[in-house]
Amino acid sequence: MVSSAPFDLPSAPLQLLTLDWLQQAGVEVAVLRLDRVDPELSGNKWYKLSHHLAAAREAGCPGLLSLGGPHSNHLHALAAAGRRYGLSTVGLLRGTEQLTPTVADLLEFGMQLHWLGYGGYRARHRDDFWTPWLECYPGYRCVPEGGGGLVGALGCIPLVAQLDAQLGELGWSDHHGWWLAAGTGTTLAGLVIGEEGRRPVFGALAGPPSHAVARQLGNLLGEAGMPDGGYLLLDASRGGFGRFDSALISFLKETEHASGIPLEPVYTAKAMMALRLYVEGGYFSRGTRLVFVHTGGLQGRRAALAQWPS
Ligand SMILES: Cc1ncc(COP(=O)(O)O)c(C=O)c1O
Repeated sequence: MVSSAPFDLPSAPLQLLTLDWLQQAGVEVAVLRLDRVDPELSGNKWYKLSHHLAAAREAGCPGLLSLGGPHSNHLHALAAAGRRYGLSTVGLLRGTEQLTPTVADLLEFGMQLHWLGYGGYRARHRDDFWTPWLECYPGYRCVPEGGGGLVGALGCIPLVAQLDAQLGELGWSDHHGWWLAAGTGTTLAGLVIGEEGRRPVFGALAGPPSHAVARQLGNLLGEAGMPDGGYLLLDASRGGFGRFDSALISFLKETEHASGIPLEPVYTAKAMMALRLYVEGGYFSRGTRLVFVHTGGLQGRRAALAQWPS
C-alpha cells in the first residue's frame, strides 16, 4: 500500500530553451527544471523517493536501505533526505572502496556504507538479496536500485499536473510530448501513468537499449493497471552507460553556454543530444512544442567532467 507523500513536493520552474537548432526547425522546447527544486534532493529523485520516505516515516522505520554505484545520484539524494528527515540510511555500493566526490558526500550526510564488490552487487536481482541486510538492519525499508519500481513511478505522477499548471506562463495552451533521459524508466513510467494516453513520452536511454528496460516498463505499467504504450524508448547511450566522447562533452559545453542551463554527461546531455538528432532529422514538424525534463544529477558532474578539463 502506497501512502500519500507527507512532504510538500516541490514545484519545478519551467524555462524556454532558445537554441539555434530548435529555431531553425521551428520546434519549441520548454525545460522543466527538476535540477532546481532543491540543492541536495535534486532532480527526479525527490519525486521517486517521496512515497518511500513517507512510508518509512508512517511505519516508524528506523531507516532506509538502498544500493548504487560510487557516483549514484540516487544514493546521494537518499542520504540527503535521510539526514534532513531524521532517518538513518544505509548504502550498498558497487565495486571496491573508493572516495569519489559522491561517496564523500554520502559519508558527510551520515550514510552507513558497505562495499559489495562487483560479484556481490550482481546478486542484487536474487529474491533473497535483502534478507541478510535486513537481519543487520531490522525494520529498515528497502528501496530498489535507482528508486525504481511502481512506488518510485507513482511519486512522479504529480509532475504532469505541475507542468499543466505552468504552461500558461509560457503562453502555451498545450504541448505535444515529453522528452527525458531514461535509466530504469521509472520517471518515464510516472509520466505515462499521469498522462493516461494524452501526450507521448519519449525516453532517451542512457544505457544501451536492452529488452530489460522495455520489459520492466511494461511490467510496471501493467502493475499500475495501464496498457503498455504511450511512450517511445530511443537509444541515446553513445557507446554505453557512463561513457563520454569528445563530441558529447563539446555539445554539453556549447549547450550550457548558449542556454545557461547546466547539464551533466551521463543523462541530461545525452538526452538533449538525442533530441537535437531527432529535431535536425525532421522527426518533429514545425510548430511542435515539447517539454524536456531536466532530471538533475548535477552532483555527478564533479567526477565526470574532471576527465575533460575545459
Ligand atoms: C540525473 C538522472 N536522470 C535520469 C535518470 C533516469 O531515471 P529513471 O531511472 O527513472 O529512468 C537518473 C537515474 O535515476 C538520473 O540520476
